[in-house]
Amino acid sequence: MKNKFEIPELSVEELSHALYEANLKLIDANKRLKDEEKQRLDFYANISHDLRAPVTAISNSIEYLLSASDLSKNETQETLVIIQKRTEYLQKLINDIFLLSSLESSDQKVHKEPVDLGFFLEDYYYMNCNDIISDNVEFDLDIPENMSVITQMDPHLMQRVLDNLINNSLKYRREQLHIVLSTRLEGDTIIIQLSDNGKGIAKKHIPYIFDRSYTADRSRTPNSDASSGFGLSIVQKIIERHNGTISCESELNKGCTFTIQIPV
Ligand SMILES: Nc1ncnc2c1ncn2[C@@H]1O[C@H](COP(=O)(O)OP(=O)(O)OP(=O)(O)O)[C@@H](O)[C@H]1O
Ligand SMILES: [Mg+2]
Repeated sequence: MKNKFEIPELSVEELSHALYEANLKLIDANKRLKDEEKQRLDFYANISHDLRAPVTAISNSIEYLLSASDLSKNETQETLVIIQKRTEYLQKLINDIFLLSSLESSDQKVHKEPVDLGFFLEDYYYMNCNDIISDNVEFDLDIPENMSVITQMDPHLMQRVLDNLINNSLKYRREQLHIVLSTRLEGDTIIIQLSDNGKGIAKKHIPYIFDRSYTADRSRTPNSDASSGFGLSIVQKIIERHNGTISCESELNKGCTFTIQIPV
């Protein structure tokens, strides 16, 4: 009987080729580990930095309130508003970190259920259009009339995807904003698109927008905004947990189109 631990007889060339291949694989695996480690360290460095700034602002404001004895009502009010804004930012940051890390953990269940896609999007549209539409904002829904697709999805997470994309359209807009939410079926793939005619994104930045660190380009983000920069990372993770992909096409000052593809 053949011993299963027996080394097959190979010529010296075959052996050295096999060793060479194994060595390449090891180098590759090692590089990937190092890249992941670097990403992890960068992530912690960025988070610590982002947590430190608001905590320092809150702490300084409280110290100011406690030490100044003759503050006017206005000054007190202004300092309290700073504390409130920074606290809201911290809450958003912490909630987003929690959601992203739970989505990254494979143990975390995504609660999928059969969802009628057309019905789901229509429901989303009519629940939200009053809050979105205004004198300067048009919002349209485009669903093929005969579309009937039942798919497995987590409706709460999918709402979160649409909320994040639409919030971005509202945040990075120019004067008159037109948002279109549309869907269609291509073979066995569901396509959901969200287009706007806002500020758009320069081509060179598009590959990085799903990375959390891209919001380092804070000049784009309105000052009043409590952005954690996790928005599109969370969107991408949710779509990946539905075995789908998300991509962006954009032209600066023309607008953006985000395309989600999910297998039925
Ligand atoms: N519709 C859009 N139009 C123009 N730029 C966009 C649009 N959506 C995203 N971006 C750009 O991509 C970046 C990343 O978006 P993302 O939603 O991840 O972060 P954010 O909006 O800055 O923060 P957060 O969503 O966490 O509050 C934004 O900072 C913005 O520069
Ligand atoms: Mg966002």
